[in-house]
Amino acid sequence: MGIDVDGITPLGETALLTLYARALDSRSPRTILGDKGADRIAAGIDYDFAGLGLVTSVVCQAALRTKMLDDRVRTFVAGHPDAVVVDLGAGLDDGMSRVQPPASVDWYSVDLPAVIALRDRVVPANARAHSVPQSLTGDHWPDPIPAGQPTMLIANGLLAFLSEQEIISLFTAVTGHFKSGELAFNDYGRIGWVSREMAKLAPQRMFKAVSGQWSGYPGFKDAHRPEAWNPRLKLVEETSLAHAPEVELFPAWLRVATRFSGRIPSLARKARILRYTF
Ligand SMILES: C[S@@+](CC[C@H](N)C(=O)[O-])C[C@H]1O[C@@H](n2cnc3c(N)ncnc32)[C@H](O)[C@@H]1O
Repeated sequence: MGIDVDGITPLGETALLTLYARALDSRSPRTILGDKGADRIAAGIDYDFAGLGLVTSVVCQAALRTKMLDDRVRTFVAGHPDAVVVDLGAGLDDGMSRVQPPASVDWYSVDLPAVIALRDRVVPANARAHSVPQSLTGDHWPDPIPAGQPTMLIANGLLAFLSEQEIISLFTAVTGHFKSGELAFNDYGRIGWVSREMAKLAPQRMFKAVSGQWSGYPGFKDAHRPEAWNPRLKLVEETSLAHAPEVELFPAWLRVATRFSGRIPSLARKARILRYTF
């Protein structure tokens, strides 16, 4: 019998979904992320993962965006061996084991208290890994994290669950606390109501689990928008997942559809990585 998920709210449950996406990807002979640890973590949890009905496109996209964020963290810590990494809405993701930063790097994982309680039971311990059981909509999450070192912050699968005002406050807290660094996250561009309603109607439980938690904020098309919210943020990268070389590892039908979407800017924006310096 595995570890139970008592106390995890539907919002926290979204972390089980992305964990299982990485686990399924790791079982593929054409794995994108190769996160065998995710499969081991999932195996230790008493939860009906199969009942989520994860579809191949979501598995591939979740693995790819995680790989792309990992690569950006790798580049940052290679240039700043004294860096601090902060994973905002870390869920059950053990990015530290994949990235293998220099031994001098500290890694902080912030998430809701119940998710962090589960995380601390299932994710392998590391002397330089630290858990922060705080809501990112509150004022205190940065308090335990050093402010003066170069800081790489990532948010993988988080922002869809926050309102526009909560995202603005979060970014203000980032540049208010940390002296310098980068903020990178995945983004879906501006999502129309038709796409949102279609997701709610899809039969798989995974779509209901996620769409039921969306904040309702439709997002933004122009990647410069966060600069208007917060003048300390400077956009340095906007990359579509559709243009990533790893799309070659997708199953043929998905590869063709993804490459096609990459030729149409409005579709390419639907899955992108944005990165800002401050
Ligand atoms: C889709 S999951 C992604 C988890 C992880 N980043 C991953 O890739 O597996 C979204 C995560 O955001 C967390 N989250 C949502 N709202 C939050 C908030 N206000 N404060 C802290 N974490 C939050 C959820 O608990 C969940 O772990």
